[in-house]
Amino acid sequence: MNTVVTKLDRTLISLTLRQPWITSMASSKVQHSTLPPEPVIPSKKPFKVELVGGKRYSWCTCGHSKKQPFCDGSHKTKAPGLFPLRFVPEKDATVWLCGCKYTSNPPYCDGTHKQDFIVSAPLHEHTDS
Ligand code: FES
Repeated sequence: MNTVVTKLDRTLISLTLRQPWITSMASSKVQHSTLPPEPVIPSKKPFKVELVGGKRYSWCTCGHSKKQPFCDGSHKTKAPGLFPLRFVPEKDATVWLCGCKYTSNPPYCDGTHKQDFIVSAPLHEHTDS
């Protein structure tokens, strides 16, 4: 039987792993996972961006970048296993790039940020300089 892990499942797993009192209660049943890290949520709204046709962009997938919605290399230390999405638009365009990092049409917003699992999730705040 195939096991399907939905976005909500992954969010719940991620939140559970961040709550040490929960994992300590179930420590005998906890198994290490090979799943890549989940992105944090830097914004619950998309970013309106004017893209230049033919220019190469790197959209942040981990949520740790301080140059949202673009990559600043933070994934290397904050989210090993996640990598930026590189793309080159064909022509100049004004677009809405996803800020919640859970879109199903990366790097573009698809409205996922309006779903409850994003609305009720904590917003990531940078704690270092
Ligand atoms: S900001 Fe992520 S889907 Fe809209």
